[in-house]
Amino acid sequence: MKSGKLITFEGIDGSGKSTQILMLAEKLIAAGNEVIVTREPGGSPGAEEIRNMVLKGDKGRWSTETELLLFTAARRDHLERVIEPAIAAGRHVLSDRYVDSTRVYQGVGRGELRRKVDILHTQMIGREADLTFVIDIEPEVGLDRAVARTGDEKRFESFGLELQDRLRRGFLDLARECSERVVLVDGNRPKDKVAADIHNVIKEMPL
Ligand code: ADP
Ligand code: TYD
Repeated sequence: MKSGKLITFEGIDGSGKSTQILMLAEKLIAAGNEVIVTREPGGSPGAEEIRNMVLKGDKGRWSTETELLLFTAARRDHLERVIEPAIAAGRHVLSDRYVDSTRVYQGVGRGELRRKVDILHTQMIGREADLTFVIDIEPEVGLDRAVARTGDEKRFESFGLELQDRLRRGFLDLARECSERVVLVDGNRPKDKVAADIHNVIKEMPL
């Protein structure tokens, strides 16, 4: 049986990742593919428990080093229990965030931990995405969209505009650094336009 692909969506908060994942999933399913939609942190019962710990509470609850370990632990569980079985069964996995979020948020966003992120990834995860879309958006627009949502997972969104801007630049640098796998998409446009760009890339990919 042909393996599925791991396709990840990255970008700052409110960039439109969840919206675009659902639009792409519909198209892929309509074309006869088996698809699962998942997210990080989370995506498996154990990883969702870690998500609760890491995204709720006050800003200083965890150090960046502890966050790196928690996000990596969540990813390991997600990988073992959801991503790898799905790929082995020929399903395509669309994930709202994956290791590039750790590279950017923990690696450049808050503390120079990038080297440690990569070491842990190699040792404990060992799988890169087959294709990654970085949805780029003005931080002001993203923050407006994100704070309009309700809920109590606000630890990261409360970090403010200056940090969102640094994170955005982190994702742009990553897109340049990993251009063989990462496609940069302009998210400052209507949903359908963004979706059309993403679909054009997918059409070129042997699925
Ligand atoms: P993310 O998953 O990256 O945080 P979402 O897909 O949840 O972003 O989008 C955040 C909010 O912005 C949602 O209310 C969504 O409906 C809206 N949104 C998403 N994409 C666009 C777009 N291209 N233009 C305007 N609003 C958008
Ligand atoms: P989420 O609500 O999924 O993101 P969004 O606001 O984009 O819909 O929140 C996840 C938060 O966790 C987000 O602010 C990014 C952060 N994060 C990290 O810091 N490191 C990671 O490895 C991952 C996966 C997420």
